[in-house]
Amino acid sequence: MDRIKIRGGKVLEGKIYVSGAKNAALPLICASLLTDETITLTNMPALSDIRAMNALLEQLGTQIDEFDDFVDNHAAKTYSYRTKEATSLVAPYDYVRKMRASYYVLGPLLARYGKCELSLPGGCAIGARPMDIHLAALEQMGAKIEIKNGYILANVDGRLKGSHIIFPGVSVGATCNILMAAVLAEGETVLENAAKEPEIGDLANLLNAMGAKIEGIGTAVLRIEGVEKLHGAKHKVIADRIEAGSYAVAAAITRGKIELVNAQAKTLRRPLQVLKDMGVNVEETETSLIIDAKGCELVGKDIMTEPFPGFPTDLQAQFLALMLTAKGAAMVTETIFENRFMHVPELLRMGANINVHGHASAIVRGVKNLSGAQVMATDLRASFALVLAGLVAEGETVVNRVYHLDRGYERLEEKLRSVGADIERVKDNEEE
Ligand code: EPZ
Repeated sequence: MDRIKIRGGKVLEGKIYVSGAKNAALPLICASLLTDETITLTNMPALSDIRAMNALLEQLGTQIDEFDDFVDNHAAKTYSYRTKEATSLVAPYDYVRKMRASYYVLGPLLARYGKCELSLPGGCAIGARPMDIHLAALEQMGAKIEIKNGYILANVDGRLKGSHIIFPGVSVGATCNILMAAVLAEGETVLENAAKEPEIGDLANLLNAMGAKIEGIGTAVLRIEGVEKLHGAKHKVIADRIEAGSYAVAAAITRGKIELVNAQAKTLRRPLQVLKDMGVNVEETETSLIIDAKGCELVGKDIMTEPFPGFPTDLQAQFLALMLTAKGAAMVTETIFENRFMHVPELLRMGANINVHGHASAIVRGVKNLSGAQVMATDLRASFALVLAGLVAEGETVVNRVYHLDRGYERLEEKLRSVGADIERVKDNEEE
């Protein structure tokens, strides 16, 4: 397995181009299942999760074409998707096991074909992550759902029925899935307590471009007037706010200065406020964000994860890493997932001072220095937190299980090297 080797101590300076958002792209790909015409997605990131989703759609009968493109001054992929007629309505275990977001095929297939069999995703490194909210909403829309042999068997006679759904908890996945189901349902659907993450707005905008009738985009109440048929469309994926936030922390932790080109400040209000409160200078330009921590003495600040527009759980590990060498103590509280401090034991091995209380909170006390070590993490964002710690640690840090990073950070070493990091990938078969 590949590893990432970092020699810490460099002050990062320069420009990083933010890629298209993975968590927007994944449901957008599945929205293409709702029509027999072509959906073209531009500004797509080259990531293993995107390739995994593409493989699942090909297995369902989608024809996919891939192009190398140049969007907003950076290299990106363009993909076109056409599902003239699905040849399978089954999302098998081997696909879902590799990527939970495979569950985004459920809403579209059920809406267009009245049937879908989806391997039930299990728990994962960050928590149990059930699908009860998705399934209850589909049942309310008239679907019959059965769990058998580890699969969700869903079907509906005729079309799904528009319904007034009040989600019992805020779920990004359930909001996207039910939104995709509702656009082809009969009559009006109202989704209350919907998640408001920017990735959902991106999905709703594509669906409207395909002929859907969605109102309330960006709010907790979405109103959808079902239509009988959707058509082809072309759509540019939004910039990845989590990637942007991760590199903002790279600038801050190394007391450097990075311009994040294409980053959208409006999708990062809470994390940017935390950076400012810590003592980092943040400048917004029309097309970028400039994160300047040069000569700054940073002070630890408390953070608590919440659904958007609150502080994102997907930036918790990175900001916890930032607190490690800041002055004073900071309390990090995780409210979205029950097991999202898996980076802590690894960071302790690098000399961090962190006390985890139960599953929900951690107190970080700033230390003067971290020291390089061999580390590994169990999920994508936790792995990036280890990279961040490696960037400031004395000596060499080796991050194992790089495949986690490859799921969500496009050309990570290249981007960090371009701003001065001493970082390289050691291939499995290479001598060190
Ligand atoms: C999405 O996951 C993201 N994944 C996650 O990003 C992100 O951490 C999460 O939203 C929260 O922002 C994708 O977009 C592909 P949820 P999702 O449904 O949709 C509970 C990353 O690192 N819940 O909003 O699966 C659930 O267990 C990934 O890029 C139920 O109880 O998250 C969790 O505690 C990791 N029942 C909470 O709700 C349900 O039916 C929020 O989960 C659904 C969810």
